[in-house]
Order: sequence, then C-alpha cells, then structure tokens
Amino acid sequence: MIYEVDFEPIGRRVAVKPGTDLVEAARQAGVALSSDCGGRGTCGRCRVRLMAGNVSAPTKNELRKLGERSLREGWRLACQTQVESDVKVHLPLESMRGAQRLQLGGIEPQVPVEPIHQAVVVHVKPPDLFDARSDMTRLLHAVQEEAGVDHLGFDLALGRCAAETMRQDDWRVVAWLRDHEVTAVTPVDVVPLGVAVDLGTTKIAMYLVNLISGETLASGGAMNPQISYGEDLMSRIAYSMEDPARAAELSLVVVQAFNRLIAELCAKAKRSPRDIIEMVVVGNTAMHHLFLNLPVEQLGRAPYVAVVGESWDVKARELGLGIAPGAYVHLLPNIAGFVGADHVAMILGAEIHKAKGNVMGLDIGTNTEIVFNHNGQMTSCSCASGPAFEGAHIRDGMRATTGAIERVIWTGSELAITTIDDAPPVGICGSGILDAVAALYRAGVINQAGRFQAGHPLIRGERPNQYVVLAPAERTGHGRDVVITQRDVGEIQLAKGAIRTGIEFLLRHAGLTYHDLDQVIIAGAFGTFVDVESAITIGLLPSLPPERYVQVGNAAGVGAKLALISRRQRAIAADLGHQVGYLELMAQPDFTTVFAEAMLLPELEQV
Ligand code: FES
Repeated sequence: MIYEVDFEPIGRRVAVKPGTDLVEAARQAGVALSSDCGGRGTCGRCRVRLMAGNVSAPTKNELRKLGERSLREGWRLACQTQVESDVKVHLPLESMRGAQRLQLGGIEPQVPVEPIHQAVVVHVKPPDLFDARSDMTRLLHAVQEEAGVDHLGFDLALGRCAAETMRQDDWRVVAWLRDHEVTAVTPVDVVPLGVAVDLGTTKIAMYLVNLISGETLASGGAMNPQISYGEDLMSRIAYSMEDPARAAELSLVVVQAFNRLIAELCAKAKRSPRDIIEMVVVGNTAMHHLFLNLPVEQLGRAPYVAVVGESWDVKARELGLGIAPGAYVHLLPNIAGFVGADHVAMILGAEIHKAKGNVMGLDIGTNTEIVFNHNGQMTSCSCASGPAFEGAHIRDGMRATTGAIERVIWTGSELAITTIDDAPPVGICGSGILDAVAALYRAGVINQAGRFQAGHPLIRGERPNQYVVLAPAERTGHGRDVVITQRDVGEIQLAKGAIRTGIEFLLRHAGLTYHDLDQVIIAGAFGTFVDVESAITIGLLPSLPPERYVQVGNAAGVGAKLALISRRQRAIAADLGHQVGYLELMAQPDFTTVFAEAMLLPELEQV
C-alpha cells in the first residue's frame, strides 16, 4: 500500500509506504526540513502542522516539546509522526532549510517625504496646586498653541500612557498629530517608525521605515499562513463562510504573522514595535477583507462586490497589532472585487498613472491584474491565471526555493537547466515551467496547439501520459526524474491564455493592438524572475522589442511605502480608486473565442 503526502505551501507531493515518518517523506520529496537533533524528537526544529489525514499518536517527546494545546491544533514533530493515510501537511517557513525566494525589493521612484503626522514638540506646563488641570488637558492645550490646530482629540490608549511619558521626560515631549488626533506621545529623541505591508495570497512582504527620512530600515517576508486553509482565494472565502469563528481565525493568523515580522524587523533595526505609529497594508480585495474580518461571501459570487472600496483608516490595536497603542493602519482603496488595493499600490509604485502614451502594467500571480494607461485613461482587469506559475497543478511543480529548476534553455541539441542555489534539482518553479514550455516549443517537441509531436526523440511514455525528462534521476536531489508532462503544458497554456486574453481585451477596449504599446511594466515576484523572451515565445506576452519591457520588482510593496511616507502619494492612491475603470472580462461577448485563441502558441517565426 502507498500513501500520498502533500506538503504545503510549497506544493510538493510524494508517495510513501505506510509508517514512513514525515522527515523521511519530506526528504523523499526533496524538501529539506530542519532536524538538528537528527530525528530524536528533542530539538523541536521539525515542527509541522497536520491539515488532513491520519498519522500516528503523539509521542512523549512531542507532548514535552509542543504542549497539549499545540498538539490539539494539529502541530506535530515531523520526525515523530508516521503516516497512516494520505495526508496533507503544512510546512512553516521556519521549519525548512533553504527558505522560499521572496521578492521584496522594487524600483523606487524618488518622492519627497510628506509625513502623515505633524511632529509637535511641546513643553507642557507641569501641574501644581494652583493649576490642577488634567494631564491630557494641559498636553492638548500645549499642542494647540504650538501647532495652531484646534478641536483636538486623543486616543484612549494615549490617555493610559501619555501621563507617564510626560513625567519621565520632564514634560518635554513630541506629540504626533494626525489631522486632529494626537495618536502618540514620545520622548523628543525618538524617531517615529512606520510599516508598509504587501499582503499577498501566497507571501507577505514587510518594510520598516523611518517616517522622517523615508529610509527603509529593514525588510522581510514570510509565507501567508492562510495557505494552510486553502491555496487559492475561493477556498479561503469558502472556509471563512462556514462559520464566523473560522473567518476570525483567518484574520488572526495574518495578524500573528504581521506581529512576528514586526518583531523580527524591529530586532534587526534595534528598535521597539511601540515606536511604530503608522502602518499601510495593501492586498487584493479578498486579502483586504479577510485581514479585516469583513464579510467575503459576496466576493465569491457574481457580480463580485467588495464591502469596502474606499481607502480607510483602522486602529491597529482593534486588529490586535502590537505597535504604538494609538497607531492607525491605513488601507488603500479597492477598485473591484478582484482588483484590489495591491493593484492601486502597483500603479502608484511603478508610476503608471504618470506614464505618457500607451503603457500596460501587469502583476502576474494566481490572479493576474492588468492596468492599461491609454493617454491618461486607465482601465484594469483581472485574469484568473491560476496557481500554475506557483508550481501548483504541475506534476513536478514547486515554489521558488532551493533545488527548483528556474531556467530551461533549448541549446539546439539538448534541454539545459539551472536550479535555485545550484542545488540538485527536486522540482520546477514558475519561471522554469514557463521556460520549459518555450524550450519544448523551440525544440519541436510541442506544436502550436501545445500537443506533443509524435516520434520526437525527447518524448517518453505513451499517450496520454507522455513526458519529457528535464533532469534524470541520477542528477536529482531525490533520485527520481524531474519531468514536464503533456498535462503540465496544458496547465501553462490555460494560465498564459487567461493573461493574454486580459491584454487583448484591454487593448481592444481602447481600439488598439499590441503594436501600439509603448511600454509594458511587469511587476511582482514571478514577474521579476520570468524570462521575457520565453514569455513572448509561448505568447503570454505580445511580441514587442525587448526594450519596451521593464521588470520592476515588487511595485505593490513600493506603492505601500510611498503611501506610508507621503500624504500626497496617499491622496493620489485614494483618487486612483475612483479614476481607474474596471473591465469585466467574463462580460465580453466573445470571451470564449478570444480565450481559445490566446491558449495557442504563436508562430515561431513571429516571435
Ligand atoms: Fe529534532 Fe524532530 S528533528 S525534534
């Protein structure tokens, strides 16, 4: 008998014998799990979470290392846990050696810092027997006199801590004024911090920023822990709809991940989370709603309406974020149900709104959002490109981590591969899959319809299970061939067809063709590593001269940062929410025909 172990979020599956422990199963899948004690159950480094299936009962070591509560929540030590059925296991990032490649950086436009807060240095008059006004009255009075702003208010949390700060600092403090509210009071030598977050369906990218200089002090990333509850947005929406407690759980795991990252970045910068007085979070509309624990039911049904579209300020502590008690989280606007605040941030970060001529911007992911700026008229659409570029639904697919094949080239006589960290190959990530399809096409293995060509010497196996070996077993990290199958090619055709359909309809909407495009901006993690030539070869991107393509990195993260440090940029983002039109692809009468054409590969001589 054989059981299947599905390791998430990296999307690796392996067939093992009953009784195999999860460290061994991971090893067979080519996943390196931390196991400092060599599997004796004493180091606690191999923590994993069981999502589905049956495994052996917890051992005494697990009880000691994890505690009853964690065991109840499904946490286990992989080295102590044997497989007793098909199982699905979540691998937290910290339990893996060779973490997933996260794209944090992006090309940043130079914008002046225009702080959201006004720093008001005040020397508050200390109380005495002749002036026994309350602490907050005397603070607000001092701020009002110094800043010339009246009708001031303050936060409950500030009431709890300002008195102590003023006394400790001899009544000379900085009051941080946000419109008409004093949100924080700090000693005069404290430089206030802000945090910008790009909350992706798969990954979280966070930046700790000096709010006076605009400088990024530290940045870091993590997997979105909601992956344990569903790979794609629809399954998470379905999970949260089952029970309000589940919706709250999805919000909580993100907040906990934020707090962990905040602590990590503050430790790197040798600062305290209490010095963070402002935060900006961008994400797609579903991520935005799940983070805030807003209802998502209507997002899963036509016409896919958001509950909140406007930009919004929410108290950080209401969400459970451990930063300055009076701090706010600012959320950029959502344009539509599937075009969210991260798209607005991408437009802002890549300055697409300022572009002249015909400029298109794409953020390729499980859901791909595209904006087209046609002489200042901006329209966006959303394409259901699916998780194939994340390695899901691909036989040997995996996320971009150590040992993933990331490049495939047809040399004219063979398929040459490169892996992440030059490690022995164990699977293939998104950029590698896309390259592989382009290479198979150039090698004549597949035709324009993506079908394997009978009799080609690289093809192994019988229809319909034919495949091509990218790395033979003797060269791989797990001793099995890494292959690309006919079905994998089909999955990539579906994904690229969805994106190309979006491009075509946006152009059509403006009465143009791709020849009219002056520039195509490719943003996001996948977009950073994708080979544009391969993307053109398979028809994902139109055949334009290479200089018209620009890969800008994490533009959504950059946009979040701009909205954190600049009042003006924040106002532009709020306007974009109204200015950018939305094109619903499914409502286009010939959607099916255009999509079917977009699935085909273009003629080779045309690319
Ligand atoms: Fe050390 Fe599992 S490897 S506890």
